[in-house]
Amino acid sequence: MSAGQDEVSAEVDCADRVVIVTGAGRGLGRAHALAFAAAGAKVVVNDLGVSRDGEADSDGPAAAVVAEIEAMGGQAVANGADVADWDQAGAMIQQAIDTFGSLDTLVCNAGFLRDRMLAGMSEEEWDSVTRVHLKGHFAPARHAITYWRDRAKAGDPVVARVVNTSSGAGLMGSIGQGNYAAAKAAIAQLTIQQAAEWGRYGVACNAVAPDARTRMTAGIFYDEDAPAGWDEKDPANVSPLMVWLGSAHCDVTGRVFESTGGQLNVCDGWQHGPVATVGDRRMTVTEAGALVHESIAAAPEPAPVFGAQ
Ligand SMILES: NC(=O)c1ccc[n+]([C@@H]2O[C@H](COP(=O)([O-])OP(=O)(O)OC[C@H]3O[C@@H](n4cnc5c(N)ncnc54)[C@H](O)[C@@H]3O)[C@@H](O)[C@H]2O)c1
Repeated sequence: MSAGQDEVSAEVDCADRVVIVTGAGRGLGRAHALAFAAAGAKVVVNDLGVSRDGEADSDGPAAAVVAEIEAMGGQAVANGADVADWDQAGAMIQQAIDTFGSLDTLVCNAGFLRDRMLAGMSEEEWDSVTRVHLKGHFAPARHAITYWRDRAKAGDPVVARVVNTSSGAGLMGSIGQGNYAAAKAAIAQLTIQQAAEWGRYGVACNAVAPDARTRMTAGIFYDEDAPAGWDEKDPANVSPLMVWLGSAHCDVTGRVFESTGGQLNVCDGWQHGPVATVGDRRMTVTEAGALVHESIAAAPEPAPVFGAQ
């Protein structure tokens, strides 16, 4: 257990919470699962065990993380569902309930990349990446909300949390990652939608866009090896935010946060920009162009797309 995880367990008690972390066999998900376990949660460690581009892999990363949690005295169970498979996602939710008696927090994190410039992207690259991320967020959450809604309607107190994983690519755009960026943008919006619809059932829903050295980014954006001393890009640096958002202490919903190192910031999404108008009549086509420039001139500059010149 790292010093960071000690702090998590000391500050925020997640004892008696049952937490599913998807894609928790490696990288960020593994760090989140360990942090939830350190805070006392019972954890379902999901991982399909695929390669960085989603191809079949042979090892069992979920079982290894379960063993790590058990070695620290925690409780965990492995799950090998493909999170974007409707029935497997449902069975994963049921496994949490059957094994630990309930489900309190769903952390959606699993995913992979198949990067390509949009002009050359294949249908398969589009479908597989949007499927694993977007459907891989909706399918588990859809089964979880059935359980939480039924409990709420039965009069049980529900203090449930959904924590989704977006990306800077989805919030700002990223050259060569159009499939991934579109899916991650949709996950940010899905989070807002879930929060708006599920608050009535006692479910708070937020999303995090992390930035860390994992096999997804090592050797591409970051060095393969961690530096000596403070490692700003250690995935475990993002986990305290995930644990707080997944805990009963979380009192915000419908928000998206970026986090890396020792920092976080909220991200504001689409806003109604400055209105430009011709008044109570239909604009002409020429006027439409002028109004476009008038509204843009009064609006903040959009953040640059990652990788754009
Ligand atoms: N690393 C970063 O800086 C960064 C930045 C932004 C967003 N993210 C997001 O964070 C999440 C975790 O990424 P990571 O960097 O830890 O990557 P990673 O490749 O280390 O871990 C992802 C895990 O998800 C699993 N997985 C893939 N498809 C699955 C499926 N269908 N069902 C179940 N498990 C599946 C993989 O086997 C793998 O263990 C991803 O959603 C990623 O897009 C990461």
